[in-house]
Amino acid sequence: MLATAPLVSTVRVPLGERGYDVRIGPGLLERLGEAVAEMFPPVGGRPNRLFLVYDAGIPDEHVVAASRSLAHAGFRVAAASVQPHEPQKNLGTLARLLVDISETRHERGEPVVALGGGVTGDVAGFMAATYRRGVPLIQVPTTLLAMVDASVGGKTGVNLLTETGLQKNLVGAFHQPRLVLADVRVLHSLPDRQFAAGLAECFKHGLLSADFGDADLFSWTLSALPRVLRREDSVTVELIARNVAVKAAVVGGDEREEAAADGVAGSGKPGRAVLNLGHTFAHAIETVPDLSPTGLREDAPLLHGEAVGLGLVAAATTSVALGKAEPTIPERVRQALEAVRLPVRVRNLPAAGAVLDRMLEDKKVSAGRLRLVAPASLGRSVIVVDPPEAAVTAGIDAVRS
Ligand code: GLY
Repeated sequence: MLATAPLVSTVRVPLGERGYDVRIGPGLLERLGEAVAEMFPPVGGRPNRLFLVYDAGIPDEHVVAASRSLAHAGFRVAAASVQPHEPQKNLGTLARLLVDISETRHERGEPVVALGGGVTGDVAGFMAATYRRGVPLIQVPTTLLAMVDASVGGKTGVNLLTETGLQKNLVGAFHQPRLVLADVRVLHSLPDRQFAAGLAECFKHGLLSADFGDADLFSWTLSALPRVLRREDSVTVELIARNVAVKAAVVGGDEREEAAADGVAGSGKPGRAVLNLGHTFAHAIETVPDLSPTGLREDAPLLHGEAVGLGLVAAATTSVALGKAEPTIPERVRQALEAVRLPVRVRNLPAAGAVLDRMLEDKKVSAGRLRLVAPASLGRSVIVVDPPEAAVTAGIDAVRS
C-alpha cells in the first residue's frame, strides 16, 4: 500500500501486528526524533533512552542531525559506530556492539536506531534481535541500496569466515523494524559508485515486479534515469517508494522465505526467494577476493550492488539457456546496467566450475539442489530448482571479461 503527501511517501509493510511504515522523503533525518518519540513517548517525565548505531563512513553532518533531532525530542542517546565494509560484518563487531549496549544498561523496551548503509543495518539489526532476546529496531538507511532493499523486510545478520571462505549472511535472524525512515537528501552526498550499486537492486525489483503490483517498474526506471542520476528529490522518492512497495508485497506474502521448495507462496505468486534474483551468482562472485569493477586494483573489491548487477546478467543468460526467456533479455539487462555505469563483465573470475562450487555452498541450496531465480521477461521472474549445469555455466561465462 502506497500513500503519498507532497514529496513524502509512506509504504506500509503488511505484516499484521509486525507491520510497519517506510517513510520516504527529503529532510526526514531532522524529524527523526519526532517520529521515534511518537512510538516511544517518555514515561513519567523521565527522558527515554535509545542506542544509536551509526555507519562510520557517512558524513558527520548526518550523525549530528540525527543525534540532535533525537536529543530535541527528549531522548538520552548512547552511540557506537560500525565500519561499513563486508569483512567487518562479523561476529566480532556484533560482540562489541552487544558489550557496548549492555554497558549502557539498555532495557528491553528501549529502541535501537541503525543509521547507515546495509552493513550497519544488518549488524545493528542482528544486535537488536539478540540483545535481551530482542529490542525494538528503527532503520534509518543512508544508501540507495539500503533504502530500496536491506532496511525493509527484517533480514538481519553477519557473515561467517570459514575454511572455505566468507559465507555471506550465514548467521542471522528475522527481526522486523518498527519504522523505516529514508531521507532522500542524504543521497546527495552518496558517492556515484554507491548510488549506481543501489540501482542494481532497483533493476532487480523491476525484473520481478509484475506479480507484485507494478508491471512497468523496469521501463519506468529506465525512462526516469536522467532525473534519477541527477538525484532530484521528487524522482528518488518515487523510485524508492515503488521499489519498497514491491519488496513489501513480496515480504507480505512470505515473510520468512518459507514458500514451498518450488518457491511458490500460498498466493500462487513467487515467494520471498524471488528477491534472490541475481544473488546466488552475486554471492559467489563477490566472495572471490580482489575482483574489481574496472579491473584496476585500487577499485577492488566489488560492491554488493555491483556483484548483483553481474548476477542479473548471469541469471538472464541462464534463463535464456533454460528456454525461459527471450534471447534479447540479457542484452536489455546489460544496457540498463551500462546506462548507470555498472560493470557487466569482470576480469579474473575463476573457472566456471569453481564459481559453481561457491554457488552450491550458498545457504539457499536445499538438499544439495540449487534454486535459481530466472527472469522470464522484463517484469516477471520464476524460481528454477536444480537447473542443468550447462545453463548455469553459460550465465557465469557471460560475465567473464
Ligand atoms: N534482500 C533479499 C530479501 O530481503 O529477502
